[in-house]
Amino acid sequence: MQISDKQKYDKVIELSRRRGFLWRSFEIYGGTSGFWDYGPLGAALKRKIEEEWRKIYVIGEGFFEIETPTIGIKEVFVASGHVNNFVDVTVECTKCGAEYRADHLIRDATKPLVFEHGENGTFSHVLETNVEGLDVKELDKIIREDDIKCPSCGGELGECYQSNLMFKTSIGAGEKKVGYLRPETAQGIFVDFPHLLRFYREKLPFGIVQIGKAYRNEISPRQGVIRLREFTLAEAEIFIDYMDDTHPIFERVEGEKVVLYPREDQKDGKNEPKERGIEEALNKKMIENEFLAYNIALAHKFLTKIGIPKEKIRFRQHKEEEMAHYASDCWDAEIETEQFGWIEVIGIADREDYDLKAHSTASGQDLTLFKSFENPIKTKKKLIKPKMGKIGPVFKEKTPSILKKLKEGKNEIKDGKISLEIDGEEITIGEEMYSLEEVEEEVYGEKIIPHVIEPSYGIDRILYALLEHSYREESLNLDTDLNLSDEKENEKRIVLGFNAFLAPIDVAVLPLLTKEGLIKKSRDVVETLKRENLLVDYDDSGSIGRRYRRQDEVGTPFCVTIDFETLEDDTVTIRERDTMKQIRVKKKYLPNVFRRLREGEEFKKMN
Ligand code: GLY
Repeated sequence: MQISDKQKYDKVIELSRRRGFLWRSFEIYGGTSGFWDYGPLGAALKRKIEEEWRKIYVIGEGFFEIETPTIGIKEVFVASGHVNNFVDVTVECTKCGAEYRADHLIRDATKPLVFEHGENGTFSHVLETNVEGLDVKELDKIIREDDIKCPSCGGELGECYQSNLMFKTSIGAGEKKVGYLRPETAQGIFVDFPHLLRFYREKLPFGIVQIGKAYRNEISPRQGVIRLREFTLAEAEIFIDYMDDTHPIFERVEGEKVVLYPREDQKDGKNEPKERGIEEALNKKMIENEFLAYNIALAHKFLTKIGIPKEKIRFRQHKEEEMAHYASDCWDAEIETEQFGWIEVIGIADREDYDLKAHSTASGQDLTLFKSFENPIKTKKKLIKPKMGKIGPVFKEKTPSILKKLKEGKNEIKDGKISLEIDGEEITIGEEMYSLEEVEEEVYGEKIIPHVIEPSYGIDRILYALLEHSYREESLNLDTDLNLSDEKENEKRIVLGFNAFLAPIDVAVLPLLTKEGLIKKSRDVVETLKRENLLVDYDDSGSIGRRYRRQDEVGTPFCVTIDFETLEDDTVTIRERDTMKQIRVKKKYLPNVFRRLREGEEFKKMN
């Protein structure tokens, strides 16, 4: 049964709320936008998505995981540029005080025109303007010129201003030390760079990951569960040698096809997004380097593996004006949803050496790596040879310090003179006090600052998109539903069709009736399945049909039913969610059947 577009978000949210996937936080106090709780099933689903992510990045790529604080000290975010650049332009209503993100307000105010184009020219000027990347003054001008009013009360809007998206806090008593809740997990990784470099035996490339909460104080978020103020990021920071962008295991993604929407094609809607081979995109320089291309392919593998339909995934390159302050290039994995259109769920950015350079300058620490040359390079160098007979009589007791400084070899000669700072005093060594000797030197390597490629996954949005794409409503058709006298003809059922490895509940155990003998047997089955590391739900309330429906709508892939035959021959039925097919097996074979299912054997081929 087809579900109409508008209803789907509401249906998914209603189901999520009723069955314990998602609850609005602080609901008994009226709730606050941008905060959602994961109920028991939501939290289980989220953990499973994160586990799949770990399988790809930690096990598959060999990137170890670290855990750093969710609060960062001010110095970190000043250096990273977040204090100055992580801002949105805000505008407030002078009458009711409502706050809006100026670009979103303008975009929303102009939306009706998309349908009324040509009939009503009020916002025609705005329609021709791309509001993305406009600064405070430009946004303010549009609001005045087009006379945009407060959408909630119609009041006059005040002047636009910049507001920082980080939550500010203080560390320790009083307000002595300023801290911020991290807006991304990445900075915790960058500031650990010297430790990480040693851990990876000073060799590039290497990657490190972190999964955890991040925070952004969004201005009046109005997109339900997809614009959160507290959310979970799964990020990998991959440190590479910018002189060598050959990915060591590129062959793993060869043959992968993805839908790409490069920056150039987005201009004036020039070209539609198009499916392309990952090597072709790389060869045509549509994607700048192998590490970016590899990670785009990997993100595609992850999304399709968890069950997002291929045709609902595309990779859109950021336009220059929408790029984050640290990025030189960025591709977003976007999923099409019915309620919100294409939403960004993963950002794959080339951060170059932006962060390491910034932290090195701000902390004064060396965040470079010594890169050895394959063969030492011979170079000629001019060595300063001090003339003792000239320096000694002039500088007397300062002479040893001067000789030491000259020996360090970091001196600059300007117009034949060398300036040195000795004990806080500036002194000048004239050309009569030294001679230059040319020497040959072998150079074994150089210090470099690695570049960083960063795939950053928004787990909450991925989870929502998965819920939406897994949700379906069906009418039961007993011709195809085999022998199910328990299911009613034409009854509607709601199904969350998760892949079995993601379902919050692995298996439900259902006694046909609440009879002593059946309950006891069911408890035995529960224990058997738990020993297989399966999360089991035991349910004995209501008719068996109602119980199947309950499990279908939370995505439980299998139900094991215990009936009177079980008492006679120790067999149970296993019912599969999608086909509703049932098979009868000896209770003692249950562990084996579930092991085979876990290894990918198809239920419909079992008997
Ligand atoms: N680290 C990626 C982001 O902040 O979006």
